[in-house]
Amino acid sequence: MLPVRLDRTRPEPLPAQLAAAVRALVTDGTLNTGDRLPSSRALAADLGVARAVVEQAYDQLLAEAWVSTRHGAGTFVASGETLPTQPRAPRPAAQAPRYIHLDAGTPWIDPRHLAGWRRAWREVSTATPPRGYPDPGGLAELREALAERLARTRGLTVGPDEILLTSGSTDALRQLLGVLGPGGVLVEDPGYRAAVETIRVSGRDVVDHPALAPVTDLTGCAAAYVTPAHQHPLGRVMPAADRLALLAAARAAGAVVVEDDYDSEFRYDVAPVPALAALDRTCVAYVGTASKSVSPSLRLGWLVAPPEVHERLLHRRAITHDTPPWASQRALLTLLRDGWVDKVVRTARRVYADRAPRVAAALEPHAKLAGPLAGMYSTWHTSPEQAAAARAAARAAGFDVRLLEQYCRTADLSGLVLGFGGVTDAELDRALAAVVSGLRGEEPRKR
Ligand SMILES: Cc1ncc(COP(=O)(O)O)c(C=O)c1O
Repeated sequence: MLPVRLDRTRPEPLPAQLAAAVRALVTDGTLNTGDRLPSSRALAADLGVARAVVEQAYDQLLAEAWVSTRHGAGTFVASGETLPTQPRAPRPAAQAPRYIHLDAGTPWIDPRHLAGWRRAWREVSTATPPRGYPDPGGLAELREALAERLARTRGLTVGPDEILLTSGSTDALRQLLGVLGPGGVLVEDPGYRAAVETIRVSGRDVVDHPALAPVTDLTGCAAAYVTPAHQHPLGRVMPAADRLALLAAARAAGAVVVEDDYDSEFRYDVAPVPALAALDRTCVAYVGTASKSVSPSLRLGWLVAPPEVHERLLHRRAITHDTPPWASQRALLTLLRDGWVDKVVRTARRVYADRAPRVAAALEPHAKLAGPLAGMYSTWHTSPEQAAAARAAARAAGFDVRLLEQYCRTADLSGLVLGFGGVTDAELDRALAAVVSGLRGEEPRKR
């Protein structure tokens, strides 16, 4: 089948989208002269559209000489001499190939939960927004609901007034960096790329630190950005001794530990590890996100900062109005109150608990797992050649997999970071087959 995705929310009609996608596959070399396109019936079934959609797209491509037909034999990519050469508007060559991303950060949101989501937004549409600028801390009722949830799920006992609503983890980090004293920021290497970029843009130095080594000295640093519950991307839980060493180093240097608690709820073997902030609130800024339990597109998160930093943030936000939109906060409030978030987390945890061992069973004969199986991705150590071959094989099959080296700055590691939350079971099976064939050193096979 073709690595193509149609998007019903886009204004272009589906046949035009499909024709554009096929043109892009020809111009980027995924499809070559003489390659046979799937039958209109098969492609329609694969894409979940009416057969007429594919027939219209093929007719258009035929009229433009991108494809040719041989009676009874099917539709083929046209030969070089007959391929259109004139640039056209919009130019298909400008389109990047579309892959299904095995992204480490995309969660599984069960489509069966859509009704609850819609209900929450209906409620938003009938609620009355505040008349003036919103509370700089965020919606008060939402902070109450979050305080209850943090105590219940993360062992973190905080009052609603100690919570600030943010537009996600990177926004929390950006806002923190705006009020901390001078100094660089220690970051795990390999580590979260968005955090590194956020620190760079703030003008502060990124201080690389080997991801699995204890942090014992934060002299000259304003902060340390860490993922203690599930090191991103190596997966390890920070050992207790390393937690204590990190807190001691932060206290000694007057630095803040930014605890990115992005996916700790998704443990399926043991209960989630308690938050670092539960050990010491005076030097830890706890950063949570709705991106895993609700949706990354919601752009909502929460921040529990040390009291003094919290005051500075509140003061600044009262001037800048740097709070997330009221409507999203109001929707999250309903989703929490309705028990929707708990339900989505429970369902997703079951899905990951099923998929993670499937991924492990497929890859273990060829690669070494980093960290325990947890969350919605797993990381695999391989040789650089194997990793490149696996990525190429995945791409030929229409999937994009990240290389471990993409998360490294000075660390010298090779392998794959394979997300399994944002795909269907059938897509995951196809992707795994391709990745394994690449790891085995087989020639990439196009779909
Ligand atoms: C390490 C890490 N932190 C945080 C997030 C979520 O970030 P945000 O809340 O900005 O969506 C992700 C998502 O992939 C992540 O991988």
